[in-house]
Amino acid sequence: MTAEGREVIRIGAEAIVSRLTWNGFKLISKYRVPKPYRMPELDRWIRDRRTLHEAKVLHEAKKRDVRCPAVVLIDRSRSEIYMTEIEGKELKKCLGELPVRKVGKLASQLGEMVAKMHISGIAHGDLTTSNIIMDQEGRLYLVDFGLSSFTDEVEDLAVDIHLLDRSLESMHTEVREEFMRSFLKRYSEVAGREFTMKIMRKVKEIRMRGRYVEERRREVRNSYNQ
Ligand SMILES: Nc1ncnc2c1ncn2[C@@H]1O[C@H](COP(=O)(O)OP(=O)(O)O)[C@@H](O)[C@H]1O
Ligand SMILES: [Mg+2]
Repeated sequence: MTAEGREVIRIGAEAIVSRLTWNGFKLISKYRVPKPYRMPELDRWIRDRRTLHEAKVLHEAKKRDVRCPAVVLIDRSRSEIYMTEIEGKELKKCLGELPVRKVGKLASQLGEMVAKMHISGIAHGDLTTSNIIMDQEGRLYLVDFGLSSFTDEVEDLAVDIHLLDRSLESMHTEVREEFMRSFLKRYSEVAGREFTMKIMRKVKEIRMRGRYVEERRREVRNSYNQ
């Protein structure tokens, strides 16, 4: 693709994400890099499959009216997706600066988006505040569907809510409670009470499992130190 001014914005473990302009459009490219430790054939196959999968889920999410980037082009020879750039800021970077009343509104907006996605059988897979972008008008968008799945497993959907809560817990402790309360209220209105209760029971279970693992780790660490 003939593009101008590529600017790398993230070098991740799996992909290089960059910003570029193409015929006046602001695009984002996500290029899955080859892994030297994999057999070349297998490596190409894995990168191709993940690229196609991410594009497919983005497309499905859009069809369900969930705000996310639009796929513009897939370059299968390079395992690269070109998508529209969402102009805004990662929620992670702006949540701390917002007044509490705005936090509730945003959380409620996100609750609606995630509920729509979940009742359509899509789990995001990495729902943290770095993968949520807020534009100038305060609209939220989901990005990074690299770990997403089509699923009707309660566990997969519950992991989304667990990860969201965890990312608020570690970065935005002061707004976490209000955020999750508004998020779940709207989520429940869209997805239904029964559905939400089922998911929340699983979220609790996942949280307990996490605590248990943490405690076990601490115990093992302490026993080494004795
Ligand atoms: N379409 C997009 N528009 C704007 N920013 C994006 C877009 N896609 C990715 N980003 C930015 O790049 C970052 C990394 O992209 P992401 O798809 O999350 O890659 P990774 O799998 O490495 O986390 C995101 O957190 C976001 O800030
Ligand atoms: Mg990401």
